[in-house]
Amino acid sequence: MSKTAIQIQNLSKVYTTNNTKAVDSLDLDIYKGEIFGLLGPNGAGKTTLIRMLVGLLKSSSGQILFNGEELNVNSSKLKNLIGYVPQVAAFWDNLTVYENLNVIGTIYKIPSKELKERINHLLEGLYLTDHKKKLASKLSGGMQRRLNLAMGMVHNPQILLLDEVFVGLDPQTRNYLYDYLRDFASTKDRTIIITSHLMEIVDALSDRVGILDLGKMLATDTPENLKNTHGKGDILQLEIDKEFDETLISKIDKSVTDITVETKDQTISIKTLNAISKMPEILNVIEEEGFTIQDVKLTKQSLETVFISLTGKELRV
Ligand SMILES: Nc1ncnc2c1ncn2[C@@H]1O[C@H](COP(=O)(O)OP(=O)(O)OP(=O)(O)O)[C@@H](O)[C@H]1O
Ligand SMILES: [Mg+2]
Repeated sequence: MSKTAIQIQNLSKVYTTNNTKAVDSLDLDIYKGEIFGLLGPNGAGKTTLIRMLVGLLKSSSGQILFNGEELNVNSSKLKNLIGYVPQVAAFWDNLTVYENLNVIGTIYKIPSKELKERINHLLEGLYLTDHKKKLASKLSGGMQRRLNLAMGMVHNPQILLLDEVFVGLDPQTRNYLYDYLRDFASTKDRTIIITSHLMEIVDALSDRVGILDLGKMLATDTPENLKNTHGKGDILQLEIDKEFDETLISKIDKSVTDITVETKDQTISIKTLNAISKMPEILNVIEEEGFTIQDVKLTKQSLETVFISLTGKELRV
């Protein structure tokens, strides 16, 4: 059995109307069981890529293999395999929450008893049970996004493609969705690709992250490795009990490798990759020199710095 859920090979998309190469000769393997976070500035090509994977958009060239197989975009095999939640919520306005899910389930030919169970399970899970008789158009924005998520999952897909699903959710619902997705992916052979502008969520949620810009993948790795390779490092701030001079700073500098030390008043700021692993050494030197640490503050670097160093752009939400 292939351990790759999706193989993207030399995939390109040119929109002929405006001659935009939205996805440019992309090669990417997505593994079974992983959550893959797709980061990129506006216009990077994320939605275009996802829509090609779902089969809603025809690629200009290249190949997409699912479980090692090329599938026809209209095949029921592909439709059953994939669940898609679009960036712009889509549902039937004049149907209720329950009816929307029921229509989707019928399209997928899910037997009615099973469908009922699945719908109720999803409604329960996504806290929509109390709203199931409401017209979709009368839901709040966050509820509409949750309905869309349920609509993408009602057929129990193995692969979930989620485009900006965290947008417009309150923190509580975000946390809930976060746990829900983690739980979904923890089941063997299930895979999620998620795009989001919310770096912290992508960082915490994803097993691997790909940074896309101008249709090209600039880097693909675990969040930790990306930070260690492309980031500028953690910042460790140590407040010392009494005045110190250059002697202490040069001692720290000499004893600990790959750090940048700065001082301000009674605080020593140390910039380094993986500061936690270097903390014992640093603290040792300070204590050996007869100083005591009064306060410690550690700011772990975020994917934001990686993103900016790779794309040269800030990510605007
Ligand atoms: N239907 C279309 N016709 C022509 N050009 C398009 C179309 N859809 C997208 N594009 C262009 O393709 C490029 C990639 O757009 P895409 O929507 O894939 O970006 P994205 O990474 O999803 O951005 P965002 O973060 O804003 O959602 C952009 O330059 C965009 O203008
Ligand atoms: Mg998009």
